[in-house]
This record gives sequence, C-alpha cells and structure tokens, in this order.
Amino acid sequence: MVQLTGQPTAGLDIPALETELADQSPQKILERALDLFDNIAISFSGAEDVVLIDMAHRLNKPFKVFSLDTGRLHPETYQFIDRVRKHYGITIDVMYPDAAQVEALVREKGLFSFYEDGHKECCDIRKVAPLRRKLATLDAWVTGQRQDQNPSTRAGVPVVQLDGAFSSGDRALIKFNPLSRWTSADVWLYIRAFEVPYNPLHERGFISIGCEPCTRPVLPNQHEREGRWWWEDAGKKECGLHSINQEKQG
Ligand code: ADX
Ligand code: SF4
Repeated sequence: MVQLTGQPTAGLDIPALETELADQSPQKILERALDLFDNIAISFSGAEDVVLIDMAHRLNKPFKVFSLDTGRLHPETYQFIDRVRKHYGITIDVMYPDAAQVEALVREKGLFSFYEDGHKECCDIRKVAPLRRKLATLDAWVTGQRQDQNPSTRAGVPVVQLDGAFSSGDRALIKFNPLSRWTSADVWLYIRAFEVPYNPLHERGFISIGCEPCTRPVLPNQHEREGRWWWEDAGKKECGLHSINQEKQG
C-alpha cells in the first residue's frame, strides 16, 4: 500500500503509472487503483457510472462508494441509488450539504438562483463542499468521467492524476478515471452485456444525469452535455467536482 504523507504523491510516480495504465481496460485500471490504495472510494452520481460499481464488485475486492445528495436529484435517481445499494449489497456513504449554507442561499436568492446568476454558487454549496469534506478523509478517489462527455473540458482527462484541486499542502489526493477513454457506446454495451441496473431516466432521453432542475433530456444526435446547464456556455459546464479539468485548459 502506498503511504501518502509528506510530499504530494510521495511513493507514487504518477506519470509512470499513467503510462502503465493508459492503454489498459477500465477493469485493469480499477483493479490497480484498489490494489494501490486501501483508503479509496468510488464517486457514484446515480447515472451510468454504475458500471464502476459493477466492475469493482466483479473484481471481488473491498471497495467504498459515496454519493453527493444535493437535495435536488430526480426521484428516479434517489430510487436508483438505493437499488444499487441493495443489488450489490454495498454501503453507500451519502453526503449532504451544510443546512445553514443552503438555507442562507435559498433565503437570499430563492430555489432557482442558478438560472439567473449561474450554477457555481449553488454547486459550491450543494456539491463541492460536501465532496471536499469526503475527500479530506480519502487518499484516492475513482470517478466515472470520460473524455467524450465534454469536448470543451474533458478531452484531456487522464486515467490517473494528482487531484490538485482537492489535495492539500501535506496531503496528496490521487484521482482515477478508469472510464476516461471509453465512449458512451462502450459504457452502454457493458451495461447491456452484464445486465447492470440503470437509472430509468435513461429510457426517457436523458444521457448525462445531474440535478433535476439542471438536467434535461437531449434530442437525437444532440451531445449529452447539452442536457446539462443548457443556459450556460459549454466551457462552463463543470460544477467544481472536476475543476482540475478547467485549470489545465487555462
Ligand atoms: S458533473 O461534474 O458534471 O456533475 P458528471 O455528471 O459528468 O459530473 O459525472 C462525472 C463523474 O463525477 C461521475 O461519474 C462521478 O464519479 C462524479 N459525480 C458527479 N456527480 C456526482 C454525485 N452527485 N455524487 C457523486 N459523484 C458524482
Ligand atoms: Fe444546484 Fe443545479 Fe448545481 Fe445541482 S446542478 S447543485 S441544483 S446548480
């Protein structure tokens, strides 16, 4: 096991690991991640990233899962998260935002301020702060990000990276993105081949799924990201969970 104390990435050569894993299958990348770290968790959004949970389950190794409940998810997503919990017999750590911060935002700006002044403030309170709290307890995390999810911000997502956005001076946080080189089609082939449970919203035109007020179905041949924060520019369609993607662009 790698001990990540002292300098960032001490004991782990990230570029070498990236080279080693670049052409590996998501299953192999996930297996290596779980072998390298005990204190690692899969970040599950309640959408098609369920494939990571299925892969981890088939690897027959212990793994942890967490979800960020923003308070604004679709009823179908809540039901799906619980279905996944029972289907795989796993514990899902559901993280909640700080009640006082949500109350202050809603008192000042109402329940739909993101349509008027952008999603950042609400996402910071409902997603990023709870994520920061969770990541402070981990050495590494696993996400379902893919390069094809957003050509503006995710085209360069590597299979493994130092998460500069959530590491602190003396604590390195490593981020694995085992699906980074898979396409949406690859993910759906897997879901169908292995009969993985999926969020029923996918049957109603939703491809990418986030919070209910900020997600809508897309039309045939529309890019999946067009269903997220559709009133904002493509380059802004990140909520802060993966702000390292945008730092790299600039
Ligand atoms: S987002 O940043 O735009 O919301 P997206 O929906 O594409 O992210 O999901 C990419 C990955 O981010 C997911 O596979 C998951 O690992 C993580 N993620 C996104 N939303 C959540 C959530 N609510 N809870 C836990 N992880 C999430
Ligand atoms: Fe708020 Fe929308 Fe962000 Fe969800 S996606 S936290 S509702 S701005």
